[in-house]
Amino acid sequence: MRNPTDMAAARADGRPISMVTCYDTWSARIIAATDIDCILVGDSVAMVMHGHDTTIPADVDMMRLHVAAARRGAPERLLIADMPFLAHRKGQRAAMEAVDVLMKAGAQGVKIEGAGDTVDLIRHIVGSGVPVMGHLGLTPQSIHAFGGYRVQGRGEEAAAAIRAEALRLQGAGCFALVLEVVPAALAAELTEVLDIPTIGIGAGPHTSGQVLVLQDLLGMQPEFKPHFLRTFLDGFELLREALDRYDEAVKSGAYPSDEESYR
Ligand code: KIV
Repeated sequence: MRNPTDMAAARADGRPISMVTCYDTWSARIIAATDIDCILVGDSVAMVMHGHDTTIPADVDMMRLHVAAARRGAPERLLIADMPFLAHRKGQRAAMEAVDVLMKAGAQGVKIEGAGDTVDLIRHIVGSGVPVMGHLGLTPQSIHAFGGYRVQGRGEEAAAAIRAEALRLQGAGCFALVLEVVPAALAAELTEVLDIPTIGIGAGPHTSGQVLVLQDLLGMQPEFKPHFLRTFLDGFELLREALDRYDEAVKSGAYPSDEESYR
């Protein structure tokens, strides 16, 4: 995909949408060589690349650097950037400045967690010509309010709240909606009810698409094993083995050889 509008077309044709996070140029180059539809420069960068326990330490500056790096590696792939913690809660002017920075760094739209009283701001951003992706369910920026990483939208009242917020986000002009760690039946129902595509993570199979953190799906974080995660590579072990082979070659004198040296 090249544009946010391509997501609506995929949904209309019943083509599942694949989205993956990416924070740097070298992995963006690999993604650009695949059929993955969309890159998300998520604020999970704070955890995956900077070693924090939550996404809260991500700020606009951090996001700008990673958006620009990912964009350089995948100049033509649809790329959406997360609005980091509180960037959209400090007034409209500050929010628009954050959007400006992320778009100028190379994003084609922003993802904003939650709805509530952010909906008016989302309408304003969309009205300014910037595509916005919504995000409901287990929104990690609110982790302390949730009291931990647990399934959201369980029970009729909680499900009704997510349903109402999803409709408000659609009404505000969001072009797609991420549903994170919600019951599969609720995600299926929302996918049916909404006109915009839903992108699930821990939301079961009946969404318009799926998103995963790149390092999680590549098995780079073996200690992170949420129920919904499938790993498609034993990346940590493969890289560890390669590095040990390099170490062994250096220490045994096998590397560099004469052929790998300048005469
Ligand atoms: O920051 C992130 O990586 C995300 C996705 C997991 C949806 O928001």
